[in-house]
Amino acid sequence: MRVLVTGGAGYIGSHTVVQLVAAGHDVVVVDNFSNAKPTVVPRLEALTGGPLEVHAFDLTDRDKTESLFSERQFDAVVHFAGLKAVGESVEIPLEYYQTNLDSTFALVRAMQRHGCFRLVFSSSATVYGEHAPVPMREDLPTSATSPYGWTKVMIEQVLRDVAKTDERWRIALLRYFNPVGAHASGTIGEDPSGIPNNLMPFIAQVAVGKLDKLRVFGNDYDTPDGTAMRDYIHVEDLAAGHLAALTRLGSTDERVSTWNLGTGQGTSVLEVLHAFEAACGRELPYEIVGRRAGDIAASYADPSRAQSELGWRATRTIEDMCADQWRWQEANPLGYPD
Ligand code: UFG
Repeated sequence: MRVLVTGGAGYIGSHTVVQLVAAGHDVVVVDNFSNAKPTVVPRLEALTGGPLEVHAFDLTDRDKTESLFSERQFDAVVHFAGLKAVGESVEIPLEYYQTNLDSTFALVRAMQRHGCFRLVFSSSATVYGEHAPVPMREDLPTSATSPYGWTKVMIEQVLRDVAKTDERWRIALLRYFNPVGAHASGTIGEDPSGIPNNLMPFIAQVAVGKLDKLRVFGNDYDTPDGTAMRDYIHVEDLAAGHLAALTRLGSTDERVSTWNLGTGQGTSVLEVLHAFEAACGRELPYEIVGRRAGDIAASYADPSRAQSELGWRATRTIEDMCADQWRWQEANPLGYPD
């Protein structure tokens, strides 16, 4: 298939591009490089063994999005592009709603107009909101605690409504838990700008000496060691989940399918820290501080629907995730070059 990957230069997008090409798909990337560096492209080409077609523009530019679809025929779209920092979304909500929604509107309009009805969308476990029971199942009601989270809830709803208007639509809503790790080559990985918000890149930067110590947000949760638990999933397993979903869209009769992509396993903040210490071979400094606003005690998937319907399951352990994250961080202490 010829597959358009929006946000294909980003963290999850780049890993998925490598697997799509390896599976024989003809991949075209569109990315505005607002949170990705162009230097990822030659690295992707080295991994895929050939030139990669990359279009650098913002999907919210409806004319450019429309022109791309006029020039090229796509069989499917994997839509990663969007803003994704929870805290930042509270500071600049309009930016988040406008960027994430407008880009999706422009994309879906162009798809409809040009007869492309297969879409895999990057949703998030954040759509389960604050009070969801664990393990989280796809049939739970959705809500959110941040503007970022609401953009995911809203886009899911937009896509469900659009799917009702044409029987050809086949849409996958993939709800990611906590993606971490990097490609085993150590040449591509997550490169957050500024101080990382997320746990794993923060620990990796402590390990490489860029940050002085980890602050553990709360040890008074109702969990075995008191620190919050999350379902960390290796980005390579996550990328494989996209391929499985794309394949499944070719045979399902459902216009919209929702799949959790997680391991089903909760790991605490301290367990992640200790697994990373084992990976990098030394103790890492940390201190316990107060809870972070908006955090919940435990979030992990019930991944059984993806297992039975996609024949997909996450296979990599927390040790694999830390080893690969460390390989990437050690080889690229400053992330991608400018
Ligand atoms: N944590 C720390 N110290 C840090 C960073 C994080 O203790 O410096 C803790 C957090 O309190 C939390 C855990 O590590 O308990 C994981 O935090 P992350 O920020 O890595 O991940 P979250 O679960 O908060 O957020 C992730 C994604 C969001 C998504 C959310 C819900 O980053 O995009 O899951 O699905 F919205």
